[in-house]
Amino acid sequence: MSFQGSSLLELKSLEKTQMDSFFQKALAFKANRWWPQKSFIAGMAFLEVSTRTTSSFEVAVQRLGGKTVKVSGASSSVVKGETVLDTCLTLQAMGVDILIVRHGTDESLADISKQLRTPIINAGEGVSGHPTQGLLDALTVLEGHGRIKGEKLLIVGDAVHSRVAASAVEVFKMYGAEVAFCGPEGWLPKNENTFKDLESGLNWCSVVMALRIQRERHQSHFVALSDYVEKYQLNKDSLAALRADGLIIHPGPFNRGVEVSEEVLLDARSCIWKQVENGVFIRGAVISEILNIQ
Ligand code: CP
Repeated sequence: MSFQGSSLLELKSLEKTQMDSFFQKALAFKANRWWPQKSFIAGMAFLEVSTRTTSSFEVAVQRLGGKTVKVSGASSSVVKGETVLDTCLTLQAMGVDILIVRHGTDESLADISKQLRTPIINAGEGVSGHPTQGLLDALTVLEGHGRIKGEKLLIVGDAVHSRVAASAVEVFKMYGAEVAFCGPEGWLPKNENTFKDLESGLNWCSVVMALRIQRERHQSHFVALSDYVEKYQLNKDSLAALRADGLIIHPGPFNRGVEVSEEVLLDARSCIWKQVENGVFIRGAVISEILNIQ
């Protein structure tokens, strides 16, 4: 079924064949260094801070022949009390062809999309999901190991506050990977497999995902940094337990010396920069399917 005109709000409601199509298209763009072209305008409302997601969407739009109109939280009328919905309606009234939205408010993009005729891409919504990040993480594992099914993903750290973790669980489980968590007790999701200590988790997994501590979302349960580093940091010593062909992923931004040490970024198993690269291709693939850019 065609994805033309659709919105990408979450991964769990997507057909697996649609995700396959995103992966194939992203890999084709990457392999051929060729992008189909169309004239279009993307309205980008980034009402929470971002470096990777906003820039990679912008690069992808430009590679596809489009232009962007950007609304950033701190310099937008959201500061004056305008809602996410009204921000989207405003950009729609100007005639943009697609909306790309990041926000951390109580509004729901699923509800907002029902009041729009313009397709919308969720570029990170509160703690609930970050679908294009989930897709690029899965694409990076697919490239690295040639498969997702049968992989064992260990998510380390502040999972309950992470929209990246939420989307990773959706896509990796949908493809038949096993997922487990390791971290301080208050940051582990309920009803999931967990490892008490990092070494056992790293012995088990084929892919490890480190997460930034999401302090901006903490209302309680702050963990002492020195304790966290001692028990859960990915570094040369802890990564001795990860198999030689294991993959290390991190959505970024990372805090060097906290969840990852400097050495991890240079480790041959690290895919952190490849994830950033793949973000452009997967976002381009999603936009090209929605706008039918051939
Ligand atoms: N991974 C991610 O969403 O990074 P940014 O917040 O920099 O966009």
